[in-house]
Amino acid sequence: MNTEIIRIDPECISREEIRRAGEVIKRGGLVAFPTETVYGLGGDALNPEASGKIYAAKGRPSDNPLIVHIADMEHLEGIAESVPESARILAEKFWPGPLTMIFPKTGIVPRETTGGLDTVAVRMPSHPVALSLIEASGGYIAAPSANLSGKPSPTEAIHVIRDLKGRIDMIIDGGSTSIGLESTIVDFTGNVPVILRPGFINPEMLREILGIVEIDPGIAGIPEGSDVRPKAPGMKYRHYAPRAELTVVEGEAAAVVREINRLTEEAAAAGKRAGVISADETKDLYRADVVHGIGSRAEEETIARHLFGVLRELDDDGVDVIYSESFDTPNMGMAIMNRLLKAAGHRVINV
Ligand code: TXA
Ligand code: MG
Repeated sequence: MNTEIIRIDPECISREEIRRAGEVIKRGGLVAFPTETVYGLGGDALNPEASGKIYAAKGRPSDNPLIVHIADMEHLEGIAESVPESARILAEKFWPGPLTMIFPKTGIVPRETTGGLDTVAVRMPSHPVALSLIEASGGYIAAPSANLSGKPSPTEAIHVIRDLKGRIDMIIDGGSTSIGLESTIVDFTGNVPVILRPGFINPEMLREILGIVEIDPGIAGIPEGSDVRPKAPGMKYRHYAPRAELTVVEGEAAAVVREINRLTEEAAAAGKRAGVISADETKDLYRADVVHGIGSRAEEETIARHLFGVLRELDDDGVDVIYSESFDTPNMGMAIMNRLLKAAGHRVINV
C-alpha cells in the first residue's frame, strides 16, 4: 500500500489537508496523526472494518480494545451508556487533554473497536491537529498508539513512518508530541474509579477531584505465576521493549553509577556492547559505548517526553544490553517507571 505522508503545522492548520485526511477515515481508511501524548493510528470508530484494519496494521491482538477519540462533549453521549457525575467533573477539568475514561458502551460502538468488551474507552485530545481531524472524520476516531505492537509508542512522525509506512493510507507529520507518554486511563464502570494506566494526570490530581481513586494492582507489574490480571487488556502485553535486554538499576545515585559501570565492563569482557539511559546530571560519569542523557532530574516532563525516543535510538545504536537509572520523579514518576519497567520486563537490580 502506498502511504501518503503530509506535513501539517499545528500552529497554522491547512483545512484542505485536514478535509482530505478526514475523507480517508470516512471511507474506512487509516490515518496516523499527532496527539499531545503520542501519535495515534486513527480509523472510523463506528466502522468494524476500519477497526479490523487497525489491528492488522499494528499486528495487535484483537482482544486489546481501542480508545475512541472525540472532539466535543455531545459526542460522549452517543457512545457512553452512562456517565457518572464525577467523570463529568473530570472531563470539565482535564478535557481536552491526556485523560481516557472508561464507560459502559452504547449499541453504536462495534465490539471490533472495544476488543469484544461491553465498555468503551473515550478521550478528547488537546492537540489541534487531532481535534480538527476528529471533526473532519465524523466525530469518532478509534486510535491506538501508532507503533507496531510491542514497540515503544511514537513521539515523532519518523517513528510512525518506520513502523507503519506501507501498511496504512496516510501519516500526518505534526512535529514532536509534547507529553510523550500515553494518557492516564480511569475506569468508571465499577463502584470506585480505578486508574488502569498512569500518565501525566497523576493519582494526586485525580484524588483532589474524586476523593477516592483506586490503582489497578496490575499496573505495578505482575509477578510471575500470580493470578492478578491488569484490567486494561493492553497492560498485560510486553510493551515498549527495545531489542536489547534492558535492566533498571535502582538505589543511591553514586552506587547506581558504580554498579552500571561495573555491569558495562562485565558486558564488554563478554564481547557485548552496552548502552546506558542516564539523567543529564550523571551522564558524564558512565563509560559505556553509548550513553543517552534523557533529561535533567529537575525537569521530569523532559524525561517523560524523551523516554520512548531514547528506547528507539538504542535499537538504532545496535547495543546488546541496556542499563538504565531509575526515574522515580515526584509527579510523573509513576507513569515514567511504569513504561520503563515494562520495557525492562521488570528486570531490576537494587544496589
Ligand atoms: O494517549 C493515548 O491514550 C494514546 C493516544 C493515541 O490517544 N492512545 C493509546 O492507545 O495509548 P493504546 O491502544 O496504545 O492503549 C490503549 C489502552 C490499552 O492498554 C487498552 O487495553 C486500554 O487502553 N483500553 C482500551 N479500552 C479499554 C476498555 N474498554 N477497558 C479496559 N481497558 C481498555
Ligand atoms: Mg499502545
